Amino acid sequence: MRQPYRLVRARPEPEFEISVDGVPVPVVPGQTVGAAMHGAGIRSWRVTRFGGRPRGLFCGIGVCFDCLVTVNGAPSLRACLTEARPGDLVTTGHNAGDRPRADAPVPDGSASDADGER
Ligand code: FES
Repeated sequence: MRQPYRLVRARPEPEFEISVDGVPVPVVPGQTVGAAMHGAGIRSWRVTRFGGRPRGLFCGIGVCFDCLVTVNGAPSLRACLTEARPGDLVTTGHNAGDRPRADAPVPDGSASDADGER
């Protein structure tokens, strides 16, 4: 399969790797963490606070906050806006800052979208 950068005769820097929950993921320089994860077949990497529904890239432009990850210890970064750097350590899931706060309202379970998330 032809890569898009070959179609325009671009000469990107060599690929490098990041670690996503300990698994090496290849990155083309300039890719975001979210694009690299998506390219590696990772489609969801956290769950909603209430209901445990899977989330990953949704808007891809920094609006929805569905793609939160922790990168090098910095929590709640939007993967779709965070440029991957060689050796980045990405963690997902509850380490991505989606833990409920102690003062968060407790859902009554009567509505599936009680938390306001899709
Ligand atoms: S995918 Fe929507 S903010 Fe990242």
